[in-house]
Amino acid sequence: MSKLRTIILLSCFCCMPMANAGKTNVKSPDGRISVGFSLDRKGRPCYSVSYGDKDIIRPSCMGFELSDGTSLSDGFRIKKITRERCDSLWTPVWGENDSIRENYNGMTVSLSKNKTRMDIEFRVFDDGMGFRYVFREHPDPVLVLKEEVTEFAMTGNHTAWWIPEDYDSQEFEYTESLLDEIGAPGVQTSLMMKADNGIYLNLHEAALVDFPAMHLRIDKPSKVFRAHLTPRPDGTAAEVTLPFRTPWRTVTVSDKATDILASNLTLNLNEPCKIADTSWIKPVKFMGVWWEMITGKSKWSYTDAKDFDLATFDYASATPHGQHGANNENVRRYIDFASRHGFDQLLVEGWNVGWEDWYGKEKDFVFDFLTPYPDFDIAGLNDYAHKKGIRLMMHHETSGSVANYERYLDAAYDLMRKYGYNTVKSGYVGNILPKGEYHYSQNIVNHYLNAVKKAADRRIMVNAHEAVRPTGLCRTWPNLMANESAMGQEYAEMSPRHVTILPFTRLKGGPMDFTPGIFRMDITSFAPGYQGKKKRATISNQLALYLTMYSPVQMAGDLPEHYERYMDAFQFIKDVPVDWSRSVYLDAEPGDLIVVARKDRNSSDWYVGGVTNEDAREYILGFGFLPEGEVYECTVYRDAADSDGFTNPERYEIFNTRVTSASELPLRMARAGGFAVRLHQK
Ligand code: NOJ
Ligand code: CA
Repeated sequence: MSKLRTIILLSCFCCMPMANAGKTNVKSPDGRISVGFSLDRKGRPCYSVSYGDKDIIRPSCMGFELSDGTSLSDGFRIKKITRERCDSLWTPVWGENDSIRENYNGMTVSLSKNKTRMDIEFRVFDDGMGFRYVFREHPDPVLVLKEEVTEFAMTGNHTAWWIPEDYDSQEFEYTESLLDEIGAPGVQTSLMMKADNGIYLNLHEAALVDFPAMHLRIDKPSKVFRAHLTPRPDGTAAEVTLPFRTPWRTVTVSDKATDILASNLTLNLNEPCKIADTSWIKPVKFMGVWWEMITGKSKWSYTDAKDFDLATFDYASATPHGQHGANNENVRRYIDFASRHGFDQLLVEGWNVGWEDWYGKEKDFVFDFLTPYPDFDIAGLNDYAHKKGIRLMMHHETSGSVANYERYLDAAYDLMRKYGYNTVKSGYVGNILPKGEYHYSQNIVNHYLNAVKKAADRRIMVNAHEAVRPTGLCRTWPNLMANESAMGQEYAEMSPRHVTILPFTRLKGGPMDFTPGIFRMDITSFAPGYQGKKKRATISNQLALYLTMYSPVQMAGDLPEHYERYMDAFQFIKDVPVDWSRSVYLDAEPGDLIVVARKDRNSSDWYVGGVTNEDAREYILGFGFLPEGEVYECTVYRDAADSDGFTNPERYEIFNTRVTSASELPLRMARAGGFAVRLHQK
């Protein structure tokens, strides 16, 4: 996949003793970002980052503590410094753009301490930098890491958009606060911040492979973040076999918020694609027998059995409760609707036995991923779907029992191939088994990637919920289409600003299956059990999410009968592509608004989406991204004068006009509102 790769080794100088190591630095290709490296008198490695004339990261410690009480954070000498230059273009299998430039200056500092050798590799791009550690030699070829001591020393009391440290979940709303008001010992990445001088910066990690996920613990007085790795059951952080490369620690920086959204730093710090033939990997637009279970209108389970044990339960003689959503008739109804409206796939949850007792029990054997419920005809329904030109999407809820899922994984994927499924939505709700492991600990991080690799062997695409937050691995394994790993639409009630923050945080690692497209906002009107749940969003806001929340798997989350109420607005969901040749972020501020224009990968059409937070705003959309002089037919879906995401969310208006690159269109966004625009050339 990698085209035109130019890596030039520039220079190297050897054996600098610690006393005269002094300082060295490496700059971005445009010269704006400078990363300094030094060893202090105690041989402690340290880095700093500046952007133009502004410091971004003050001198910060680097390294690790080992479980045997020794450390890889001091006593080092510099053996060698190697520099490299890379400027290449690569073509993502799917994405926001059809070509990505990987343009950086690299510097590798080789350190030694007795019989230990450790490199620190830096790559500095125009939009940020990353560094990682390479453990090369050690008397013991298996290192047990106790903790990482990497620091990120901030230069002031920045505003941050953060979720609290947690080893198992990212399903939280973001808090916007100053660093010294962070109400948790630590936070998760990707962490978005804005400094008083207007600089935006983002801390995350790239290429999380065979390693625990990193949290950031804050020392409020000094405004220093320190890495904290998700522990293993024995309390250590990781066991690694040499030679070993850690994930990259990343800092994205710009004086424009839109640049943070447009940055490809995380992807660029991942390895090129490892799948030789990617022709089977295709973006997917799908519907699902899903929202009706989430809202309690129907159930995943088939019976109300108590004291349930999957190994012994006899479904044939059990009495169904009559509310099973994934029954033949209902699934056929969804297939008919999804196929009539041009969708690629239909997700069916609750198709398999075991849902009677799946939630929060820490049971090893919850599902077998193989046996359909008596009223789900797996062969017949797949045949029916295929005849109608769509596929069913598989669902594997593991209930956190990774041990059990691994036992069944091969057979479960084989079953998919047998019936023609090529996409699986997996899920990890609940505490992880084996006990003591966490969703983000090293072994479980390995599990998620192994599942993706096994899936690739069978030409299966993966969309994993509750898995570790993504770190750009979809470049290497593009069958990893999306993750959830954040608070998604399943919560219904969330602050409207959430969708203006996620693209700055969670989406920096990779696409999110947010499940947009909810049209019926008062959920208790059709699912009375779902007390107090009202979506605070207008229909235009929900349409805009297909643009602002980039993903190559996009769901139309609501029920067919709700789309039937608003077929003219539903037309936008039918039209909107899920793969793009170019994306231009027009306007953005975390917590406030996001406006993005994207060009379809398969036509000359453009689409624009804009979302706002809980504030209404007058917005003037410019079309400077269009080719000059060309006329586009423009269909606008926007909030009506009386739309309001809190009190009148289902009002919208649609109109047609013509625009060129010189046009300007006033578009009012209601509270929790937005707009969606289709630009078509006849
Ligand atoms: C949580 C997932 O995020 C949701 O989409 C799914 O429906 C449930 N788990 C059940 O698997
Ligand atoms: Ca979830």
